[in-house]
Amino acid sequence: MQPQLKSKVRCADREVGEVAKVIMDPLSHEVSHLVVSMNGAGERQVSMGAVQTVTDDLVQLRSSSSEVMALPPFKREDYVTLHEVEIPGLERHIHVTPGEVLVPFPELERNVKRRTFFANLTYVTGLFIGLPLAFPVLKFLMKPMYAPMDNRWLKIGNIGKVKVDDAGTQFKYKRAVKEAYMPEAEIEKNVWLVKATPAVLEKVYQGKDMEFRDATGKTLWTNKKDMPYLAFSGKCPHLGCGYKWRKHKVLGQVFLCPCHLSIYDASGRVLEGPAPRPLDLLPIQVSPSGEVQIIDMEFKAGTKSQTRIV
Ligand code: FES
Repeated sequence: MQPQLKSKVRCADREVGEVAKVIMDPLSHEVSHLVVSMNGAGERQVSMGAVQTVTDDLVQLRSSSSEVMALPPFKREDYVTLHEVEIPGLERHIHVTPGEVLVPFPELERNVKRRTFFANLTYVTGLFIGLPLAFPVLKFLMKPMYAPMDNRWLKIGNIGKVKVDDAGTQFKYKRAVKEAYMPEAEIEKNVWLVKATPAVLEKVYQGKDMEFRDATGKTLWTNKKDMPYLAFSGKCPHLGCGYKWRKHKVLGQVFLCPCHLSIYDASGRVLEGPAPRPLDLLPIQVSPSGEVQIIDMEFKAGTKSQTRIV
């Protein structure tokens, strides 16, 4: 069992605080450390090797409270959230919600700060000499970065999978991507579908159809206000983490983002947390036989307004 965030942490002699974060090992896909919030005395990073037992709401440590207090304070700058590094498949191994899941900051990037002045000087000098030579090549290689947005319809599954009204159902799909000069690759993505009752549709559309336009302003598609199916981008508009449909003790069933605890209702409206805007709605159509298609779009995270980036 994985330790749950907010679980109490007890040492051999007494309770010392609660689990504030967990740290995953990106290679083994296991929880490697807990970050324990020490009842107002800072945070300590405790190895899973020091954990004796884990239950739903309690983590029992082998160490004494003085041993845990003697650990160095947790250094948040040495870690990034799971989303920031996007380690394929890691999310499937996490059963820790809600809260912040971290992985160690990639070594190469961390070491950038420690490079010497002279090493940097060498790079800069090389850049000045090489840039005029490399420019035509770079221009050719970077051409795909300025390619127009991909507005193709993607089949993601059959609507028969959606069993309950006003509840989130996740659909996964694969999409081919071409990053600059890299060869084309397939990535796994997801959207959340909701079969919305009229009350939820009204919250989303407020009586008006929703138009989606391309970069030139031409209408790509219109989601009709009375079409009951909603498709939400699988990325949280706060900082882009993947969120889930979860039961909340007070609010009932909600979309919950584990990274910073943004909470959304079935219409995508923000109920709690730092999210600056509702979940991002996507163009959706459902054929008479139930085949669902969406246009895959991504929007800039962390902004109140919606700016398309993919
Ligand atoms: S990414 Fe911060 S709440 Fe979702």
